[in-house]
Amino acid sequence: DGQPALGENALNNSLDHARSDDSGCVLTTNQGVPVGDNQNSLKAGLRGPTLMEDFILREKLTHFDHERIPERVVHARGSAAHGYFECYKEQSRHTRAAPFAKAGKRTPVFVRFSTVAGERGSTDTARDVRGFAVKFYTDEGNWDLVGNNIPVFFIQDAMKFPDLIHAVKPEPHNGMPQAASAHDTFWDFASLSPEITHMLMWAMSDRAIPRSFRMMQGFGVHTFRLVNAKGQSVFCKFHWSPMAGTYSLVWDEAVKLSGADSDFHRRDLWEAIECGAYPEYELSFQIFTEAQAEAFPFDVLDPTKLIPEELVPLVPVGKMVLNRNPDNFFAETEQVAFCTAHIVPGIDFSNDPLLQGRIHSYVDTQITRLGGANFHEIPINSPLAPLHNNQRDGIHRQAINRGRVAYEPNSLAGGCPFQAGAKGFNSFPAATEGDKVRGKPEKFAEHFGQARLFWISQTPVEQDHIVHAFRFELSKVQTVAIRKRIVAMLRNVDETLAQRLADGLGLALPPVMPRASMLPIPTYPPSPALSLFFR
Ligand code: HEM
Repeated sequence: DGQPALGENALNNSLDHARSDDSGCVLTTNQGVPVGDNQNSLKAGLRGPTLMEDFILREKLTHFDHERIPERVVHARGSAAHGYFECYKEQSRHTRAAPFAKAGKRTPVFVRFSTVAGERGSTDTARDVRGFAVKFYTDEGNWDLVGNNIPVFFIQDAMKFPDLIHAVKPEPHNGMPQAASAHDTFWDFASLSPEITHMLMWAMSDRAIPRSFRMMQGFGVHTFRLVNAKGQSVFCKFHWSPMAGTYSLVWDEAVKLSGADSDFHRRDLWEAIECGAYPEYELSFQIFTEAQAEAFPFDVLDPTKLIPEELVPLVPVGKMVLNRNPDNFFAETEQVAFCTAHIVPGIDFSNDPLLQGRIHSYVDTQITRLGGANFHEIPINSPLAPLHNNQRDGIHRQAINRGRVAYEPNSLAGGCPFQAGAKGFNSFPAATEGDKVRGKPEKFAEHFGQARLFWISQTPVEQDHIVHAFRFELSKVQTVAIRKRIVAMLRNVDETLAQRLADGLGLALPPVMPRASMLPIPTYPPSPALSLFFR
């Protein structure tokens, strides 16, 4: 209200105060003291011991010793770019979110693409899901759409996320394999978690080896809510589509590129932007109501399901253009902190139990990764919208908050920040009922229908690629029972697929895994029937 729109250059300008260009300047210590000799330490005699008093040497070494910060616990390897989002047509009927307020309105964005499993120094073209995280610096605060290039996920509940990642990451005893799913722990977990089937089909398809970050789709995955100024809400799934088209590598190319240029995707993004071929992506809403959701054969709160476009069409609402590379990889790409909890008025959560866990996890990990509770002050993370509150202090605090009052209510401050009431963010008052329970809704138990839809949507060549990928990955799995369980599971998707895998792995076709059931999870005391299954 009364605030000028931010404009696409606002972010660029707002980073100016943090930019430093040292070329041609006198070298100084961190205290600004000009350094006379940057080549030689201070010694007692030219061949004597180095002196403790050499504060210049000690400062230089100490800072170097602390240069590294922990890598992200997942999505450690990534590449990012600046740009803007431009709205095609105002969307006030569905949402009051600032980026969609007016046709032609531009909102600055910072986008980070990533692989999930590999460590920070791993290779770009590994078979993996890709992260597609967008930070919108809106007039009403930062909105992070933290998505992936695949529209569904491995699991249905945040409770299983640490287990999934422990299974995916290099095995703890020998730290292998790096950036690949081809190992026993991942497939062991997968074979005991049938809800993973749909995601596995995508992950073994060409989607998991994209040609370029410029040529892959992005998905918010979960069902979100849009809320308009009257407080009315609809459900929404977010989709990004690259204007350059969606393309993949083939496995042979991916493997060779991994060896020849492990930065293939990072370099491709960087060079495209440097030479003015700006990557562009169209954002679409897939909007549906509570009543529609009820009628779907799947649960819209289940992130292992997508909503077929035949059921709910996509509505393009704007496009994103990435037109500027970061100035500094560490300061921007490494320190950026995305979080699903970062939403703005006009956007809200659904009860998707995976999303609900994510709302907690991102800030929590960033407190460790970025050292304390003030990482929102790091320039790339600061909102462009004004920030005023009574939060204070903490390690590395930058703001110099003035005045004596940092509490509310108070009668002393005069200029203390006031809550915004209806104009601010107010959670959508979604109705809730039910007993406090752990468990799953009934529709969450069907795991194979959409996996099959995906399989039959593929061309024969694409199906061959899926079969080859499964065979390659499973041939690395040493435990035969795990291979069998995966084939048994895939019999629910397609018998030909399962048979081709069994043949390729030299297995007799195992009995089909029971449909529509969750596998029994071992409980204490272990039942004899269960141990048969795990043998
Ligand atoms: C990064 C947790 C599911 C997309 C991360 C990070 C954590 C995390 C802890 C590291 C953040 C950081 O250090 O800054 C979780 C949990 C999940 C979950 C607990 C489920 C319960 C998902 C899903 C998606 C996703 C479903 C996609 C829709 C991403 C992306 C990043 C990320 C893109 C990298 C962000 C960046 O570029 O900095 N996740 N995640 N995650 N996650 Fe998730």
